[in-house]
Amino acid sequence: MPTHADLLKRTADHAIVYLDTIGERHVGAMSSADDLRRQLAVPLPDSGDSEDAVIDALASAGARGTVATQGRRYFGFVVGGSVPAATAADWLVSAWDQNAGVFVLSPIVSVVEDVTAGWLKDLAGLPAGWSTGFVTGCQAANFTALATARHHVLNQAGWDVEASGLYGAPWVHVVCSEESHYTIFNALKLLGFGADRVTRVPADEQGRMRADELARTLAAVTGPTIVCAQAGNVNTGAFDPIDEIATITAAHGAWLHVDGAFGLWTAASPTRAHLVAGTARADSVATDAHKWINVPYDSGVVFTAHPASHRRAMTLSAAYIIESAKERDPHEFVPEESRRGRAVPIYAALRTMGRKGFGELIDRCCNHATRLAARLRADARLEVLNDVVINQVLVRVRGTDPDAATRAMVERLQQEGTCWASGTTWKGMAALRLSVSNYSTTDADIDRTAEAILKVTTP
Ligand SMILES: Cc1ncc(COP(=O)(O)O)c(C=O)c1O
Repeated sequence: MPTHADLLKRTADHAIVYLDTIGERHVGAMSSADDLRRQLAVPLPDSGDSEDAVIDALASAGARGTVATQGRRYFGFVVGGSVPAATAADWLVSAWDQNAGVFVLSPIVSVVEDVTAGWLKDLAGLPAGWSTGFVTGCQAANFTALATARHHVLNQAGWDVEASGLYGAPWVHVVCSEESHYTIFNALKLLGFGADRVTRVPADEQGRMRADELARTLAAVTGPTIVCAQAGNVNTGAFDPIDEIATITAAHGAWLHVDGAFGLWTAASPTRAHLVAGTARADSVATDAHKWINVPYDSGVVFTAHPASHRRAMTLSAAYIIESAKERDPHEFVPEESRRGRAVPIYAALRTMGRKGFGELIDRCCNHATRLAARLRADARLEVLNDVVINQVLVRVRGTDPDAATRAMVERLQQEGTCWASGTTWKGMAALRLSVSNYSTTDADIDRTAEAILKVTTP
């Protein structure tokens, strides 16, 4: 039987080969589901295969069965890579195998969470006194923030939702943008608000919630109210006018939630921080670390201006749980009890990049998006649909049937393999959607990507 040392070194060798070659491989997956089943769907062995054989089989299947999302020319969805220190710290987390639920189970994770929460709030321009929870992603962050909002606004109306549920509760008005991310509606559904019972405020041509329409909506509403705004539209990258929205929600006494899955980190940019102005006036903010902070999945973060409500909305208690009177018990801020120490890779990423390096990463991605848009705009066959304010580019093929031509171009691009980007529909129009979120992308990668797109665009 191999020792831990042998097996981990063997695994490290596989990981190193994978990461060393990822920049030049075909970016999409190279194995079909059937190929992968042929390699991996063995009958469960009676007495177990050797560790070496299992790790080798996984590494071999992964070489062609993964999508090169860690690579420099992956522009699909909004997917960051993982900076080397974050990947390495994630390995430590697995080696430690700590349960991050309570301080007594893992003092190091509790302290790292505390320190990392402080750094994140500082970078995001949020007050130091806000509470922070480390969750799986922005879906979970939106859920946690809106659960806190639900507690807070109903508590103000004299209703204990944790004890009594929503049966007979005062009506809560939930107001979103027509461009709110679907995970907001999913969170509302999970919280018993009903995704379809929400008021949807119209957005402008870039996808920004219209503040005048929000003011008009709220003028007709009384009682507990939650408003969901967005920093960074998933298609265009556009920001709702958060400062203006915060003035309107404050006048109304409404809870303001900001979904800043990736856009929040524009706050760290030396040139674009103005886009998130007003976020510190919100009541809660949701974001991801696995997108623009470039740490491994799964890593999201929720912040709230109301630590007591946050705790009350989340905390479980049981006689055998030993809580610390003085230190952070991480489970008080998240829906889960047992979980991994997911703040540790964020700590390593931020400490190795530093404030300056992180701001440069954000700016670099935005500058790449601007460069790419300029290259594509220069070709008469293509039209860039959005104002490229941060890292998102939406492009469409002109012509007699632009939707069909665009969809065909997206398919050819994915097959060609220089880069990977997905299709979307924006304001009823088919578009290719590129998100530049990886720390390692270079100008040369952007030029190669532009050339690949031009090559697969029909004359
Ligand atoms: C604005 C916005 N909110 C929420 C999410 C969901 O994030 P996750 O997939 O990490 O749960 C995304 C993902 O792209 C997003 O762009």
